Amino acid sequence: MRITTYYTSESLLVEGGTRLKGRVRVSGSKNASLPVLFATILTEERCLVEDVPVLLDVKNTVDLLTFLGAEVSWEGNRVQVDPKDIKRWDTPKDTVRRMRASILSMGPLLSRFGRAVVPMPGGCSIGPRPIDQHLKFFSEAGARVEVRDGKVFLDVERKRPVEFTFDLITVTGTENALLYLTGVEGRSVLRNVAIEPEVMDLIEVLRKMGAEVEVEGRTVLIRGTSAPKGFTHRVIPDRIEAGTLMVATVVTEGEVILDNVNPEHLGAVLEKIEEVGGVVEIRGKDSIRISSNGKRNPLEIITGEYPGFPTDMQAQFTAMLSLAEGRSRVVETIFESRFHHVAELSKMGANIKVKGREALIEGVERIFGAEVHSTDLRASASLVIAGLVAEGTTLVRDIYHLDRGYERLEEKLKKLGARIERLPSKVTLSGS
Ligand code: EPU
Repeated sequence: MRITTYYTSESLLVEGGTRLKGRVRVSGSKNASLPVLFATILTEERCLVEDVPVLLDVKNTVDLLTFLGAEVSWEGNRVQVDPKDIKRWDTPKDTVRRMRASILSMGPLLSRFGRAVVPMPGGCSIGPRPIDQHLKFFSEAGARVEVRDGKVFLDVERKRPVEFTFDLITVTGTENALLYLTGVEGRSVLRNVAIEPEVMDLIEVLRKMGAEVEVEGRTVLIRGTSAPKGFTHRVIPDRIEAGTLMVATVVTEGEVILDNVNPEHLGAVLEKIEEVGGVVEIRGKDSIRISSNGKRNPLEIITGEYPGFPTDMQAQFTAMLSLAEGRSRVVETIFESRFHHVAELSKMGANIKVKGREALIEGVERIFGAEVHSTDLRASASLVIAGLVAEGTTLVRDIYHLDRGYERLEEKLKKLGARIERLPSKVTLSGS
């Protein structure tokens, strides 16, 4: 009997066992590009955003801006937005389902139009992810906030400055508040803010738009303007893509030069790379050479808000530590359930036990190729990394997640010598 298995999302076929070698340029940052693109809603003037990575989340953002009425031209890594004719303040129903970051439309829409209607995001594969802090901020800023029929309805009669302290540190929560306040005259104060490089990059843009912004530790003083201006901005390099390529290099005992990286954004990651056995050479302000000293030391990693160790690098390190000489411990403090990659890594022979927010990794000598399933963006990257170093062939299924956040990752890996191939959406796996 002939058995045929079809898969509907594309897959990556990775042949393990090659050392990565060569030089690649890291793309512009996804998580910096998205809030900067949403900032264009605030103005009536043209904006140009450069070094925007070509990926699904950017396409979703461009579609959303177009739906609202903006004229957007996207060529290569340049996105030009003419937001003059934005007339709508409601974002379409399925947009938040396709891309959680669509909640970043709340701040700028409310600021420009005095109202916004945005679908309420649910939980996702890495945890419940509430937006209570976003809504609490808008409410304290004087907006009426109502959640009904699965949507958030916001309206504000008179925009006024506000002093607000976040109960917890949130990246997009901080960005939403900053976006809103850029269109609010007078001096506002935000406390306990996120200070991730992506937030700082957005602040750079808001300054170009005419806001006066000062950052002191986790406090931001912001004085908005009644007429935010257009801007030209090149987004920062993607520190998570850089970190992912570094892990891939160290785990394969390769030697790679990464260009378009900002070593200052990678402090906690570089420390752990060196601790595990990587050799880091900073070559000026935007280039790093990574190699390996042949060791595979176990690590203790606790994720935290920037400048702590990024949760977005946890899965990739977990994959690498599967092969360490000894026992590692990884504690995830940011998201509730961000260990779905562990079950998949286990299929490849990794020995990892998860208890709540903690993973104990007993290093093994070898892992083996298997058919594994992507559950979220960074989990997908961890499976590709595992595939690079596994014996045999690994099929990473559902790389739709990977495409949401990495620009041509497999092409970059290929350039570095990896044997990796994208398979079309319908793959027949088993024969007769
Ligand atoms: N939280 C709340 N209430 C809120 C907001 C957040 O309880 O109102 C909680 C979250 O549930 C989470 C923690 O606070 O437990 C931190 O969440 P945060 O709001 O900082 O995350 P985010 O803004 O939704 C961004 C990135 C994520 C990245 C996190 C943490 C973007 C578009 N997304 O998400 O990126 O993991 O910050 O650094 O910037 C990724 O790129 O793979 C990714 C998930």
